[in-house]
Amino acid sequence: MEILHVSAECYPMAKVGGLADVVGSLPKYQNKLGHIAKVVMPMHRTSFLHANEWEVVHKGAFIMGNIPLNFTIIKEKRNQLGFDLYCVDIYGWLDREKVYGYDDDGERYLAFQIAVAEWMVKWNHRPDVINVHDYHAGLIPFMFRHSYAYKNLSNIRTVLTIHNAQYQGWMDWEKSGYIPDWDVWKWGMLDWNGQINPLASAVRCADKVNTVSEGYMKELMNAANGLEKLFEYEKGKCSGILNGIDYSVWDPEKDSFILDNFSTKDADHGKARNKKKLCDEFGLDVQLPLFIFIGRLVAEKAADLLPEAINAAFEQSEEKFNFIVLGNGDPVVEHSLEQIHKTWFGYYHSQIQYNEKLSHQMYAGADFLLMPSRVEPCGLNQLYALRYGTMPVVRRTGGLADTVIDIGDDNGYGICFNNANIQDIVSSIKRAVYLYNHSNTLSKLRLHMMKINNSWEKSAQVYIDLYNSIYK
Ligand code: GLC
Repeated sequence: MEILHVSAECYPMAKVGGLADVVGSLPKYQNKLGHIAKVVMPMHRTSFLHANEWEVVHKGAFIMGNIPLNFTIIKEKRNQLGFDLYCVDIYGWLDREKVYGYDDDGERYLAFQIAVAEWMVKWNHRPDVINVHDYHAGLIPFMFRHSYAYKNLSNIRTVLTIHNAQYQGWMDWEKSGYIPDWDVWKWGMLDWNGQINPLASAVRCADKVNTVSEGYMKELMNAANGLEKLFEYEKGKCSGILNGIDYSVWDPEKDSFILDNFSTKDADHGKARNKKKLCDEFGLDVQLPLFIFIGRLVAEKAADLLPEAINAAFEQSEEKFNFIVLGNGDPVVEHSLEQIHKTWFGYYHSQIQYNEKLSHQMYAGADFLLMPSRVEPCGLNQLYALRYGTMPVVRRTGGLADTVIDIGDDNGYGICFNNANIQDIVSSIKRAVYLYNHSNTLSKLRLHMMKINNSWEKSAQVYIDLYNSIYK
């Protein structure tokens, strides 16, 4: 089967969040199963773009509304990622440094999708399935069905994978003329509450829809940033498929980013060595339990609660601990997190940046990973932590609830709490500190965590089964 993934991000070409990790690994595992999976994304100006060789595979042009645009499709030459990676270049529109955050993101991503469709109608290798990811690729199922120019693509199966339903790509109806001529009777397939809603449109028009965990799919029926009724109505074609992680990238035995490799055979020592290096680097006492937070500093991840929660935990806990934060995002949160340094010097460190290498070193050296997320469609960080023997301390939501079992329950290996609030975070930190200081089960739990299989191998096949369940 030939599958084309369409996404705004793909690791290592461009990463903002977990979407990139999924799109950068799922196709590799689908190829291992004997299929042909490829990825197409915008040509962001990233270091990966500059460091690699590319060949031009297609050139075309289209008119968006009344704006004439030329586009070029380039392909990474050496197949370094384990799948063919294609990028769409539209001069001045897509070739920018950031993935998102421009005022014209709506137009940029629409132009990207039209270029993909234009390329597709001319391409000899027509895929059997197009798997679109999130709203940035959400108008493709509509265009394949209802734009006259793409009528002969309507027999390609389409699947929408939702990594985050908070962002939907809302556009004013004024912009409807940008979408290549379409059957106006079908306007209802674009509209949600008086706006063009690309995510809602994809839920309606795709043959199948999946979220990245089963728990999150259920939550969307009650909380989907305005789309609850739609998910309830379309539930017959919706399912949840838990993300896997790329075991060739996330492997403490071979990881070249970490300072000292280790495996289940020497987990305690291996982690201790990594912890020592990390603590030395940031001036922290290696004897104390070490907590980390890694991620975007945004409200969905409850990052706004971190400054107050960390402060309160330091104040209220009778036993001492260390905390390192890595991430960037909301400037107000960034600032407050930096302020904690002054009060808790020697126990706390923050790195306000995105840093892939440091994140690996932190998973390897830490004892606990905190994830108090308000919304977590799957969450990959808790899976990385488990693989590196770091205990996840998570709020029971979405994929976190599906992948972490509390130590109080049968076969448990993590710490879970119910609410994204200061009190729950503080008491969970205290629970973890107590476990570290007064229990001898931590190293046994560590082995348990490291042995859990969260690789893509299982889920990659479930995606194939989903594609196969569509008949055209
Ligand atoms: C988004 C979600 C996260 C998920 C990731 C990959 O970043 O917020 O929960 O793990 O996508 O699917």
